[in-house]
Amino acid sequence: MLTITRSVLLLLTGIGSALLVGCNASKEPAAQEGAAGAGPTLELKASTAQLMNWILDARADVVWASVGSIITEKGEEQLAPKTEEDWAEVRNAAATVAEAGNLLLLAPHVRDQGDWVAMTRKMIEEANKCVQAAEAKDLETLFTAGGDMYLACTACHAKYVLGEPLKD
Ligand code: HEC
Repeated sequence: MLTITRSVLLLLTGIGSALLVGCNASKEPAAQEGAAGAGPTLELKASTAQLMNWILDARADVVWASVGSIITEKGEEQLAPKTEEDWAEVRNAAATVAEAGNLLLLAPHVRDQGDWVAMTRKMIEEANKCVQAAEAKDLETLFTAGGDMYLACTACHAKYVLGEPLKD
């Protein structure tokens, strides 16, 4: 029997910073085209829901599953990446969230040039903190940044998805 309490812990850790998400957010417009104006056409095939499910959520889960605590029959157990490969996997997953996050700033995903952009940047920032923490093998920072990354996801969902059923 294995009860996972990680998400509860993540929620508790990040509550303070959740309040800051709105006010810290930068308001400058995104450089939306990137190099697209001058360079080759991008082939963005995934819908926003697919980008969420297949890329962001799938990779963020690797980060969240790597750290925290679980309750087993033997009591509480701390999770942590152990080998070089474990740490590299967490870093790679967080880097995918950060880099793929930029796709949210492009059509057809981007919804506006205000909160959408700011919330995406916050998610990218927290994902990059997870990258740094994994590089430094800093478990505590990984835990905190992982929690803040979760809150960055939910902040955007609260504004743009809440009330609508999630669909593919
Ligand atoms: C800038 C806003 C924004 C951010 C940041 C964001 N999301 Fe989303 N997310 C959305 C929107 C909008 C939808 C609804 C998409 C749709 O149904 O078309 C969604 C839907 C989802 C879904 C449900 C997809 C489905 O099947 O309908 C999942 C899972 C998800 N997001 C995970 C995440 C995770 C994990 C993160 C953070 C690592 C994240 N999201 C960050 C805006 C965001």
